Amino acid sequence: MTNQATHAKAGEKRRDLARFFGTWMRSPVKMGAVAPSSARYCATMVASATTGLDGPILELGPGLGCVTRALLDAGVEPARITSIEYDAEFARLLKERFPAVNVIQGDGFDLDKTLGDGGATKFAAILFAIPIVNFAQEERQALFRRYFERLRPGGNLTQLSYLWKPPVKAVPELFDVSASPIVWDNIPPARVWIYSQAGAPSPAPRH
Ligand SMILES: C[S@@+](CC[C@H](N)C(=O)[O-])C[C@H]1O[C@@H](n2cnc3c(N)ncnc32)[C@H](O)[C@@H]1O
Repeated sequence: MTNQATHAKAGEKRRDLARFFGTWMRSPVKMGAVAPSSARYCATMVASATTGLDGPILELGPGLGCVTRALLDAGVEPARITSIEYDAEFARLLKERFPAVNVIQGDGFDLDKTLGDGGATKFAAILFAIPIVNFAQEERQALFRRYFERLRPGGNLTQLSYLWKPPVKAVPELFDVSASPIVWDNIPPARVWIYSQAGAPSPAPRH
């Protein structure tokens, strides 16, 4: 990378940090984080997801796109990715940054309404980063049950969360939960939580 390109990248990173922090100040519950995830954390999220299956990939709560970028860096075709972001300014920036990705400004909790597909689209993987700490455990499980209806056989859901225990408990007949190793350079250090269809082999995350 040239010096100029390195400076431009550092400038964009600083601006993203300021945007993220500013949005967190206005809506701390919706944002759930003061800073974007680290590149290593995003890469771990992608390595833990079943992107090797055929079919579209769903990203929920992309923020400023660090997981989107990690998906592309891992060789996922942009046309396979649908990213749903609630914040209008973030969604506008994502569309600018990733013109070939299907970025939708809308509610990632209500896929039927946001995708408007009557439940027809089934995904190879769902990468989930919307904060749900203020939801009761039963509500979290009900939400994930609905997401699992949207997965193809063998597909998994990976979750960004700073909790040190599984944020959503396994639903025995539907999904199991496991975790990646801790990613220490994230703020704060965190694991990726991996929800696999019941009976499917536990993924061995690639790093
Ligand atoms: C913790 S941030 C994660 C951002 C990014 N994925 C990262 O790892 O840096 C959560 C993101 O979810 C978005 N969000 C919150 N509620 C949402 C909803 N109901 N639907 C879609 N996105 C939502 C927020 O605007 C924010 O961009």
